[in-house]
Amino acid sequence: MKALILAGGSGTRLYPVTISINKHFLPIYNKPMIYYALSLVFLAKIREIVIVITPNDIENFKKLLGYGEKFGVNIEYKIQEKPKGLAHGILVSQDSIEGHKIFMVLGDNILFGHGLTELLENTKQAIEKEGGAFIFGYYVKDPHRFGIIEFDKNGEVLSIEEKPKNPKSHYAAIGVYFFDENVVDYVKNIQPSNRGEYEITSILEEYLRVEKLKAKILGRGFAWFDAGTHDSFLEAGEFVATIEKKTGLMIGCLEEIAYRNGWIDDQQLIKLAEPMKKTEYGKYLINLVESKI
Ligand code: DAU
Repeated sequence: MKALILAGGSGTRLYPVTISINKHFLPIYNKPMIYYALSLVFLAKIREIVIVITPNDIENFKKLLGYGEKFGVNIEYKIQEKPKGLAHGILVSQDSIEGHKIFMVLGDNILFGHGLTELLENTKQAIEKEGGAFIFGYYVKDPHRFGIIEFDKNGEVLSIEEKPKNPKSHYAAIGVYFFDENVVDYVKNIQPSNRGEYEITSILEEYLRVEKLKAKILGRGFAWFDAGTHDSFLEAGEFVATIEKKTGLMIGCLEEIAYRNGWIDDQQLIKLAEPMKKTEYGKYLINLVESKI
């Protein structure tokens, strides 16, 4: 399975902050937003990664992440000339992902919760074995802002609708999706929506039509943020700060996950920590090696 992270888009809902900087570089407390999406990929133990970006951001992404070598992964960048929608992000990545199952994460999503690693690994294994698509529902107060999943009483998906005027439920499809290799064929056949975007929900509808869409509701043990608006951006940062200070453990720390996965060794971790050693972040990394916690 390969991973696909969407980090293009225009970020207009964060204007004026994102007029001159891509939102995925903005800090959610102590690390760039994109770290959180990437951390889900690392937790799922996927090392072949494609990141969709805008034409202006390639140099900054290379500066931040390189080609993944420092984390022991392989990152490839795909340029999306215009923000034509999430499904269009799959289309521009076609030559790299064709023939592969994919784990797709939206670059502005933050997910945290008990048993998350196990959940991602188990879902990855299920899709590798059985194919189809898998999504996660999360209760939200403002369903008109998201892709909304309607469930029957047995938890089966009845419908999925992008930013509905009359939402059929309060369960948002979070920006974390597993797809089998058919996703590329589906994406070629969909049409843009009324707002002119190739919607991810159109692909999910195709999977639903062939009875291959499964969904799981993430309950109270999970916190999910889509940091794409001023309020949700602030809330996400406050949440991460609170949890990290309380537990002494970091959320979305790529160096730590790569180290714990055995993708980098003690020396490599110390080398990554070195330029950051004046920060709590750098000290945290050094402590991982010294105390072996
Ligand atoms: O966060 C969950 C929601 O994300 C889902 O419930 C919706 O079904 C889904 O459409 C999406 O809605 P948003 O309106 O929040 O999507 P947004 O335009 O903010 O883009 C999400 C991420 O994808 C963001 O990190 C930028 C990136 N993106 C977006 C577009 C439109 C791209 O890489 N390319 C694009 O063309």
